[in-house]
Amino acid sequence: MDIRVLVAYATKYGATAEIAEKIGELLRQAGLQADVLPAENASDLTPYGAVVLGSAVYVGKWRGEAAKFLEANEKALARLPVWLFSSGPTGEGDAVELMKGWSFPEAQQNVADRIGPRDIVILHGALDSKKLSLPEKLIIKGVKAPMGDFRDWDAIASWAAAIAEALKKEG
Ligand SMILES: Cc1cc2nc3c(=O)[nH]c(=O)nc-3n(C[C@H](O)[C@H](O)[C@H](O)COP(=O)(O)O)c2cc1C
Repeated sequence: MDIRVLVAYATKYGATAEIAEKIGELLRQAGLQADVLPAENASDLTPYGAVVLGSAVYVGKWRGEAAKFLEANEKALARLPVWLFSSGPTGEGDAVELMKGWSFPEAQQNVADRIGPRDIVILHGALDSKKLSLPEKLIIKGVKAPMGDFRDWDAIASWAAAIAEALKKEG
């Protein structure tokens, strides 16, 4: 399988980086090549036949590095199969329902529309109170988001499997 996939991510505290690493690992197990890189370090898309991009969500927004990556590489991404994920909601239950209507950062909606991703998903995130600043703890208290690691590794694995399946069909 010749397709080389870039899995780019933007993280503040590491939870999204670990999701991206997992996706990369699963794509490799499925027989694809995959490089997992922080979005700010991924500038040259020429080696890649597909891109997965994910960002942690902070107060309804993507991290700047992911937003910049999407905007700076719009033309190249529009020609490639692209999958996007946001990681954020904590708590039990469906990730989409936990987001209460939020599906993608508004500021990047137009560029995403022009790129035409194969899929855009929301994945559960993780909150570690020991890592957060006091203002961040207050924000979290205000929105009553539960602390803890709610990442759904099964959901991540099925999403990665769907990506691998789609790429192998095109392969
Ligand atoms: C200050 C703050 C604001 C957040 N805002 C949101 C939000 O608007 N929507 C959401 O789903 N998650 C929100 N989160 C949860 C994070 O997205 C979640 O903890 C994510 O897994 C963090 O990823 P990271 O470790 O890669 O930075 C927020 C977390 C913090 C600390």
